[in-house]
Amino acid sequence: MRDSKVIAEALLDWYDRHARALPWRAPPGTPAMDPYRVWLSEVMLQQTTVAAVKDYFHRFTARWPTVQALAAAEDAEVMAEWAGLGYYARARNLLACARAVAAAGGFPDTREGLAALPGIGPYTSAAIASIAFERPETVVDGNVERVVSRLFAVEEPLPRSKPRLTALAATLTPQRRPGDFAQAMMDLGATICTPRSPACAICPLITPCDARAKGIAADLPRKLPK
Ligand code: ADE
Repeated sequence: MRDSKVIAEALLDWYDRHARALPWRAPPGTPAMDPYRVWLSEVMLQQTTVAAVKDYFHRFTARWPTVQALAAAEDAEVMAEWAGLGYYARARNLLACARAVAAAGGFPDTREGLAALPGIGPYTSAAIASIAFERPETVVDGNVERVVSRLFAVEEPLPRSKPRLTALAATLTPQRRPGDFAQAMMDLGATICTPRSPACAICPLITPCDARAKGIAADLPRKLPK
């Protein structure tokens, strides 16, 4: 039986040394970033890569440094600044959300409260609750599904395995530093536990990884044909 505490600690220890420095991210172990920045980055990252989001994030936060400022912007200005990020429904929801939050006097600090806002689904509500508010919510994106399916050698294919992967990810989520843990899982998936040719030799979780032990890391997660 794996000890989830040992896994979380090993991952956080790796994150302390190797976290990607990103403009919306507080350095490991430091107080959380302003919820406005966490929210804005997570909405931008919903269907767009980290590399593409950086410039947009800088332009948005330079022009609208607070959620109140964004809420007061003209629709057309925001749509023009969003141009190129695609999925314009996201930009419309972004403004609707900013206006609801400004009217309420700030962001709700629970996953449930966040999930009631426009444009915030299960992934984004968990990400903001853990990263901005240190709630021990479990954040599951494609990177996390890959890491967890390998760690526990889940051979059941996606998307059927999703509930199981979510439950397994929840067993790993620590009470302490859940936001750093969530971002550490994302970074591990983006830089080491990659879809093809995972860099197992330098992975902080090589010891507990079942897929590695079985020699099937690169084959997971399995996927049903679309
Ligand atoms: N993708 C989505 N959210 C992210 C975050 N906070 N850090 C890195 N990649 C992400």
